[in-house]
Amino acid sequence: MSGRVEREIQFVLNDRVVELRAHPATPLLDAIRGTFAQKATKEGCREGDCGACTVLLGQARDGQMAYRAVTSCLVPIGDVAGQHVVTVEGLQGTAQQPTPVQAALVAELGTQCGFCTPGIVMALTGFLLTAPHLNQDEATLALAGNICRCTGYAPILRAAAALVAQHQPLAPVTDRVPGLVATRALPGYFTRIPQLLADLPPRIRLTQLPAGTRVVAGATDLLVQGPHGLLDHDVALAGDLCADAIELVDGDLVIGAGATMEALSHHPLFLAFVPQMPQYARLIASQQIRERATLAGNIVNASPIGDFVILLLALGAHIRLQGPDGMREMPLDQFHTGYKQMDLRPGEWLAAIRMPAGQREQRVAFEKVSKRTHLDIASVNSALWIQVDGQRIVAARLAAGGVAPVPKFLRKTSEALRGMPLDNATVRLAGELARAEVTPISDVRGSAVYKSRLLERQVFAHFQRLFAIEEGLP
Ligand SMILES: Cc1cc2nc3c(=O)[nH]c(=O)nc-3n(C[C@H](O)[C@H](O)[C@H](O)COP(=O)(O)OP(=O)(O)OC[C@H]3O[C@@H](n4cnc5c(N)ncnc54)[C@H](O)[C@@H]3O)c2cc1C
Ligand code: FES
Ligand code: FES
Repeated sequence: MSGRVEREIQFVLNDRVVELRAHPATPLLDAIRGTFAQKATKEGCREGDCGACTVLLGQARDGQMAYRAVTSCLVPIGDVAGQHVVTVEGLQGTAQQPTPVQAALVAELGTQCGFCTPGIVMALTGFLLTAPHLNQDEATLALAGNICRCTGYAPILRAAAALVAQHQPLAPVTDRVPGLVATRALPGYFTRIPQLLADLPPRIRLTQLPAGTRVVAGATDLLVQGPHGLLDHDVALAGDLCADAIELVDGDLVIGAGATMEALSHHPLFLAFVPQMPQYARLIASQQIRERATLAGNIVNASPIGDFVILLLALGAHIRLQGPDGMREMPLDQFHTGYKQMDLRPGEWLAAIRMPAGQREQRVAFEKVSKRTHLDIASVNSALWIQVDGQRIVAARLAAGGVAPVPKFLRKTSEALRGMPLDNATVRLAGELARAEVTPISDVRGSAVYKSRLLERQVFAHFQRLFAIEEGLP
């Protein structure tokens, strides 16, 4: 079960089954470099920012292997039980016979001190293994979580371009391993991994949360604060507690609390609600982080600038909380009660998110402004869901982050928009009302005045994006 008590954890590390006894929240990176003495995986920031610790994590799902590149400094080791972990050693490239990814980086002079290189090799190998489309744009996205301080990115991107050219055409993502084994991008043992995993014990399933137990999901918030706060506690892994399925139930979209940002961002059922989600996702963390970060973690972390929580507020999401007294459901906009405070009772956990069917096929816009465009948290973010009938607004929901102690649903502005004509005057009014409804504070992300002006501009931007209406500022 869960607990401070260590657990036996079995997984496949590169080509062999390994076992260790550890607290389930121990960072995978520490086990790789410590217990298993594989030092090529580098430790940089330990905050998910630099990508030096990137490894591949493979899971058997519906008879197929699904791999993703993740930052091992933020992966709790308990979560890799029953999975395949691939480190750069596991690619089995040598100086005489490097893998195509390693060869491309060398050929394009894509490495100087080399500290970032193992992470970049893993990110690019993950790209070849998992990218639905093999093009330069997707390669750049796959590298967005990798920082290189001394080479500069041009040679690394040239190496990516060479790999894209070399690997055309590539098989569908579900059948890509044989082709990559043939080019030696992956070693031959990859074909035996499904059998090795099948022989491992199944994941434990938890049905309750003992008092004082901390839920650990993707750990992209929790482990950033350092592992010690977790290692002193009993923990329950969200993967043992929550489903991660994304499915239609009676017309509503039900998202298991274990679903990750990346899974949701590309899921056809969610794209029916938010077709532009893959573009919006580019503004949210890096691919390595999105592959781990859950929606539930974004909601319960209760940061006033969480990105998905803002989007879900605008979408009118409801949340389902499971606990000792059974399941209860509430609109997400009633969950956060104050700064980092929420209506979560002892022994309860967030089990699922439900999107009412009526929200589908409406228009949704998301805006985020941060100090730098990518891999940064928002100064202000906002989302607008809107339903129109010709030139009249039938219903609207506006939510904003960074402007209040909680992720804020702007109820007054949303209600005022109902029935209004879709014109410049309405857009200007919406901006004014939104400014009046928020209470930002001045901090390193900007002054209070700046943030409320920024929110107003984002409201204008939503209407411009969705309806090409210019707000016509005085
Ligand atoms: C490099 C980096 C970049 C980031 N960029 C962004 C960004 O651009 N935008 C953004 O919004 N966030 C960003 N984050 C923050 C983080 O990734 C998100 O908040 C993420 O959604 C947290 O989810 P998690 O699964 O990792 O949560 P965890 O860290 O596992 O948990 C967070 C909190 O939620 C609780 N919790 C988790 N699941 C449940 C559950 N099912 N029931 C009850 N409680 C639960 C935990 O106990 C904890 O209190 C970034 C983080 C990093 C490291
Ligand atoms: S050490 Fe920097 S992302 Fe893990
Ligand atoms: S080569 Fe030195 S940090 Fe990238």
